[in-house]
Amino acid sequence: MIKNKKILVVGAGGFIAGHLIKRLLKEKNSIVATDIKPKEYWFQDFENVESYYSMDMKDINNCRKVTKNIDYVFNMACNMGGMGFIENNKAECMQSVLINTNLLIACKEDGIKKYFFSSSACAYNKTKQQEVFIDGLKENDAYPADPEDGYGWEKLFSERMCRHFMEDYGIQVRIARYHNIYGPYGTYDGGREKAPAALCRKVIKAKKDNDNKIEVWGDGKQTRTFLYIDDCVEGTLRLFDSEYSDPVNIGSDEQVSINQMIDLIEDISGNKKLERIYLLDKPKGVRGRSSNNDLVNKVLNWSYKIKLKEGLKKTYDWISAETNKHGSNLSRFTKS
Ligand code: GDD
Repeated sequence: MIKNKKILVVGAGGFIAGHLIKRLLKEKNSIVATDIKPKEYWFQDFENVESYYSMDMKDINNCRKVTKNIDYVFNMACNMGGMGFIENNKAECMQSVLINTNLLIACKEDGIKKYFFSSSACAYNKTKQQEVFIDGLKENDAYPADPEDGYGWEKLFSERMCRHFMEDYGIQVRIARYHNIYGPYGTYDGGREKAPAALCRKVIKAKKDNDNKIEVWGDGKQTRTFLYIDDCVEGTLRLFDSEYSDPVNIGSDEQVSINQMIDLIEDISGNKKLERIYLLDKPKGVRGRSSNNDLVNKVLNWSYKIKLKEGLKKTYDWISAETNKHGSNLSRFTKS
């Protein structure tokens, strides 16, 4: 694992980066952290970060300010969210190409040796995700290119930009395709939340209000694989340490339907079964998505550990505590 290095983390105020920085600090690395959000809205507080900046990294001048004397760069920044956000904000999502491109240019100018890019399962060809239960997506299923409109095109294009900076300028790149990462210290309300946090929140609220119904987007039969944040951080650091420079799935292969995930959350809540109101006109994304983990198992000799029920329990308990603290007021986890 990386130790005693000086690392730039871009998107430091976000969910995955917050957990990553915590772990990098534990390994005695020194961190330069940037995010477009003002510091009070970063998802986690870090006392011992060397320096932090609230600035827009789409601007190359800002990239140039922070790439000096850095060993490694983690680009965890993009304008994103769950289906409710990415389906309705395609232009916003696509502009994140500017972050990755300008950051790579600044890294090249400053002789950065190694660069991490956080890509997404949304890079995969949509036509391979039209059935409810599908075989796990293998890394070469991203081509021929037909990714999620907007957000997925940004990820696929940026993956290739990384590859060309490696081929043409010798910057080592590592690229993870994340499959729906969830856990504490992430968005659970406000429009950017993904299904695990949204559905935990809805079940918690129904219990509190003694309501017997929840709203579900789509018919609940659509499937996904969800990866708990601790496994995501472990996989990311192992990938960074590896010799493998093409994109790799970082996901779980525990494929569930949204209905099956709600069953698990209801069990965790200890509450009665809720009536599900299916909202068929809400954003649904692909019909079925699942991670094939053959490559990650082979190149990292590693597999994720945390089962969905265990991860959902930790997430549920955290959201429950947060909503007790903040009530209906928005917290920094819910403001976009
Ligand atoms: N967000 C959300 N909120 N989704 C819901 C809800 C709800 O209350 N109820 C049901 N769903 C359904 C959505 O309609 C979708 O079919 C499924 O749950 C999963 O939704 P999300 O978790 O929002 O997104 P996703 O899995 O389609 O895509 C996410 O993961 C990708 C990586 O795998 C997004 O966050 C992408 O940005 C990300 O790249």
